Amino acid sequence: ATTRYEVESAPAECSGVVASNHSGYSGSGFCDTPNAVSSAVQFTVNMPVAGTATLGIRYANGTTANRPADVSVNGSVVQPGFGFEGTGAWNAWATKSLPVQLNAGTNTVRLAATTAGGLANIDYLDVTTDDGNSTIMQ
Ligand code: GCU
Repeated sequence: ATTRYEVESAPAECSGVVASNHSGYSGSGFCDTPNAVSSAVQFTVNMPVAGTATLGIRYANGTTANRPADVSVNGSVVQPGFGFEGTGAWNAWATKSLPVQLNAGTNTVRLAATTAGGLANIDYLDVTTDDGNSTIMQ
């Protein structure tokens, strides 16, 4: 199953402005952070059980320069310098995927820019769990 967390919807946090000046976003906008190291977005993700989940981060980067981010789960960096490469235009959206381990209950997923460009524009986080084919062994 996939749960979508819009960056403009609390408890998600956008350390910038929620903007809507480039089309194609989901929900009511996207997060445009300052062009600076450590610009960040943070999502709160709820899981019924602990396990592996795939993060799908939708973004746009209208420059030709990568805008990498450290990806942290519950305060620990799980993927340093995860790339958010240019998408060709600010209204051209792409999704980057990353498997992570999540706890049961509430988790934080944070992206923090590692270069002076700051983050790409961030639209949402999808969290997909593989719960479609579980088998109870007995
Ligand atoms: C432009 C663009 C913004 C983007 C910014 C950036 O100003 O309109 O949406 O966030 O560039 O470089 O980050």
